[in-house]
Amino acid sequence: MAERLKAHGLLGEMAAEFAGTMILILFGVGVVAQVVATGVGEIQSIHWAWGLGVVFGVYVAGRISGAHLNPAVTIALAAFKGFPWRKVGPYALAQFLGAFFAALLVRWNYTEALAKADPGHTIKTQGVFSTLPANGNPNLPDYHQDVRGLAVAFHLDGSRPVISAQSLPLFSVRSPDEFQALISALAPGPAQLLRLPAFLLRHPHAALSLPTNNKALKAPLSYATLPYYAIHAYKWIAADGSSRFVRYHWMPEAGDHRLSGKDAKAGGRDYLKNEIAERLAAGPVRFTLRVQVAEDGDVTRDPSSRWPASRRVFDGGTLELTEPIAEEGVLVFDPTAVTDGIELSDDVVLQFRAGAYTESVNRRLA
Ligand code: HEM
Repeated sequence: MAERLKAHGLLGEMAAEFAGTMILILFGVGVVAQVVATGVGEIQSIHWAWGLGVVFGVYVAGRISGAHLNPAVTIALAAFKGFPWRKVGPYALAQFLGAFFAALLVRWNYTEALAKADPGHTIKTQGVFSTLPANGNPNLPDYHQDVRGLAVAFHLDGSRPVISAQSLPLFSVRSPDEFQALISALAPGPAQLLRLPAFLLRHPHAALSLPTNNKALKAPLSYATLPYYAIHAYKWIAADGSSRFVRYHWMPEAGDHRLSGKDAKAGGRDYLKNEIAERLAAGPVRFTLRVQVAEDGDVTRDPSSRWPASRRVFDGGTLELTEPIAEEGVLVFDPTAVTDGIELSDDVVLQFRAGAYTESVNRRLA
């Protein structure tokens, strides 16, 4: 068979690449579909089946085409090992078609299981067919580089004001529209490589926040060792009617401590969750509310604006966490919930967030 295909020259080699890649993807994507959609098997099944897929793909195509089974391998062989460039396109085409055909077969075979596991065909099962840079997904491991949040609700007589804060010191965009454009640019997929630079070119001010925010993304030692920033300006009104704009952030009593990526990974996928439970069992965790006071002329409308570091900052109180509690019912942390003596600023993103959170909660409950 191998000799017969070899006799067909390039066409025979393309057939081998098609078949080899198809087998590789049938095993690889097939096992992920099985684990994700039916719950049969686990991570070991995925490792072994992918490995077997490579072996069988190589057995099928090895003697005819060299079993590249991946355009990246073909290009690398052409660039460094003298593989003829004229064959790169045909090989890549055959590999693409083989992989696509295999994915279609898996999709067809698991139609019912996929529809049952994920009726909306959402990102939950998209990972069966593609690898995604993970973001915004609560099931991600704790060592994944991500923004962390601290939302605090104050239960007062007749009101429940909220301070909603996150671990990035700078909000990189100026309006809800820009935020939407940023989220679209960050959407998982290979196109992100182009979309993100294009977004930054169109919104150069967003690029300015990158160095500071990148540092803040470094893996935390603990949820208790991160500062959290509430970003927006709020108006504080005194008894005599005078008012000042302020911004808040929470400073951890335990200090700001980070881990290397390697150490964070060694902690395991739930290291932050486990760590905070242990820490709370040993004693309370405290944060100080730092309040920065604006002066006349400081920008309040744009959440990406910074007030000069020379502005007065004072301690507004201490938050003490004593024990973890299980979520009861639906928790909503609407940052536009304020109380007597506090009003929203004209910050366009702050004003927008009320509607976004209500919509999100409604969808979660739907
Ligand atoms: C246009 C800007 C923003 C939009 C559209 C937005 C949207 C959302 C949505 C839809 C949720 C989920 C709410 C839920 O289902 O309960 C959420 C959660 C959250 N957001 Fe934002 N957000 C924005 C900006 C911000 C900013 C500036 C901060 C911090 C200063 C922030 C901090 C948080 C926190 C801490 C949570 C988690 C709250 C919880 O667990 O209930 N967000 N955001």
